[in-house]
Amino acid sequence: MTTTTTTEPAISCTGLSAGYGKTPVVRGLDLHVQPGEVVVLLGPNGAGKTTTVLTLAGELPVIEGSIALHGDATGAPLHRRAQRGLSLLTEERSVLMKMTVVDNLRLGKGDVDRALAVFPELEPHLGRKAGLLSGGQQQMLALARALARRPRILLADELSLGLAPLAVERLFKAVRAAADTGLAVLLVEQHVSSVLEIADRGYLLVHGKVVLSGTTAELRSQWHEVESAYLAVPAAAV
Ligand SMILES: Nc1ncnc2c1ncn2[C@@H]1O[C@H](COP(=O)(O)OP(=O)(O)O)[C@@H](O)[C@H]1O
Ligand SMILES: [Mg+2]
Repeated sequence: MTTTTTTEPAISCTGLSAGYGKTPVVRGLDLHVQPGEVVVLLGPNGAGKTTTVLTLAGELPVIEGSIALHGDATGAPLHRRAQRGLSLLTEERSVLMKMTVVDNLRLGKGDVDRALAVFPELEPHLGRKAGLLSGGQQQMLALARALARRPRILLADELSLGLAPLAVERLFKAVRAAADTGLAVLLVEQHVSSVLEIADRGYLLVHGKVVLSGTTAELRSQWHEVESAYLAVPAAAV
């Protein structure tokens, strides 16, 4: 293999329509994430970001179009995609509150030391119940557990929701570092400006359609369109 060989996207979709029942919420989506890339999916509330991520993960059915993992079309459910290296962090913080930090990490089936290498700040809390941690620490735990399994693809929905800026920065830094070792990352985010600091590319979704996509530099240069997409959504829908 030469360095000029085009790398297969870790995950991609073509002409994807998805939703609930027969009604599509997102339509005609083409997106891809290469190994080593952090790609951000932006858009106002109700745009279809969670629907997109859950469909890519195999949690919601495809209505039209196709999804490929490492170049192979797939219709497999999440647990099978997980075997092919896909990791999903949903909007609900996925830690078990009544269990200790170390037991949460063991449950992830990844190496505990590897998880602590990602977030050494969790080490003093290993024996504490996860429910007693701050929101930021809980999200670090969820991310550490996911990364300890060495996934090839990480889909994360609103990782930073409700967290203090320092915690957000810390999580994003860990995501960037993991991508720099080859992980393909798709992040759904509301913290637009801070996520653009660590992302390579992005898509802006409005009413279920991609209205803008490009490198972070391109998205920044079209900041006005990005902002107005958020502002154009009536307050009732936010
Ligand atoms: N379980 C569901 N059943 C029916 N419609 C849903 C369901 N979840 C979300 N929707 C609808 O799909 C649209 C997109 O939602 P979602 O993907 O959650 O958007 P976002 O994550 O961008 O805020 C919204 O109009 C929402 O009401
Ligand atoms: Mg959502």
